[in-house]
Amino acid sequence: MTNLQFLRLERDGYVATVFLNRPKQLNALNIGLMDELVATLEELDCDDSVRAMVLTGNEKAFAAGADITEMAGADPTTMLKRDQFAKWDRIRKLKKPLIAAVSGFCLGGGCELAMHCDIMIASETAQFGQPEIKIGVMPGAGGTQRLTRAIGKARAMEMVLTGKFISAQEAYQFGLVNRVVPAEVYLSEAQKLAHEIAAMSPVAVRLAKEAVLKVYESFLLDGLEFERKNFYLLFATEDQKEGMAAFLEKRAPQFKGK
Ligand code: CAA
Repeated sequence: MTNLQFLRLERDGYVATVFLNRPKQLNALNIGLMDELVATLEELDCDDSVRAMVLTGNEKAFAAGADITEMAGADPTTMLKRDQFAKWDRIRKLKKPLIAAVSGFCLGGGCELAMHCDIMIASETAQFGQPEIKIGVMPGAGGTQRLTRAIGKARAMEMVLTGKFISAQEAYQFGLVNRVVPAEVYLSEAQKLAHEIAAMSPVAVRLAKEAVLKVYESFLLDGLEFERKNFYLLFATEDQKEGMAAFLEKRAPQFKGK
């Protein structure tokens, strides 16, 4: 865990806090960051001196999505071979509780990453969205599946098809986050909750988490596989090239349905 390039790590008693740390890119989740994140979380998961983990970004952004610069020119074969979202399954398999502390932008892959966590605490400044449709693609790391489960079909459909963001308050009303707190305390509230859980029997916590996930994940895995394949398939379209190029060139995209 030495030489972290894209993350920062803090420890306090039984609680470890992992900070996504690419502030200039609004914590866009590039492949290097995700490799580091998965390895770090797995290492903490195996460390007996850690009982609960907090995942956070900074005040401006939890994360603004997968890194578009890395995907813009890719074709479906590259995406399939790279299969970059497969490693996200390892976050899903963590045994210890993982709490997301979310402030600012929580979009695309960022929202999907937060939804991989067991509990979400949001700052009143948090904004959630799946804006992939605006760049000619769709969510690929669980957004269509987890968001629909969390907030229901009608709301998820609108968010996924329009890319519109929802506020922290709406996310709370819709059941996406556990609570909304003032911006100054979103991280400390998440850490407080992590300490509260860390004071319980680690064995009971592990088995209880496993049991809740059992019901949550029934039928989820088929849906995740389906979504991932469709996401990779979209890299065969001109609209994906146009949508991502337009984002990087800071202009509006012209979609042609090809
Ligand atoms: N990938 C790469 N770079 C990104 C990024 C992303 N997802 N999001 C932001 N950035 C970069 C910007 O390009 C910009 O870089 P430069 O300073 O070098 O120009 C920097 O971060 C700051 O961003 P903005 O200047 O755009 O900041 P803003 O405050 O005007 O807007 C924003 C903020 C609304 C979040 C806007 O950045 C945005 O729309 N980002 C993209 C969101 C998005 O489409 N996410 C989905 C990605 S695809 C995905 O996640 C697939 C999946 O299912 C996993």
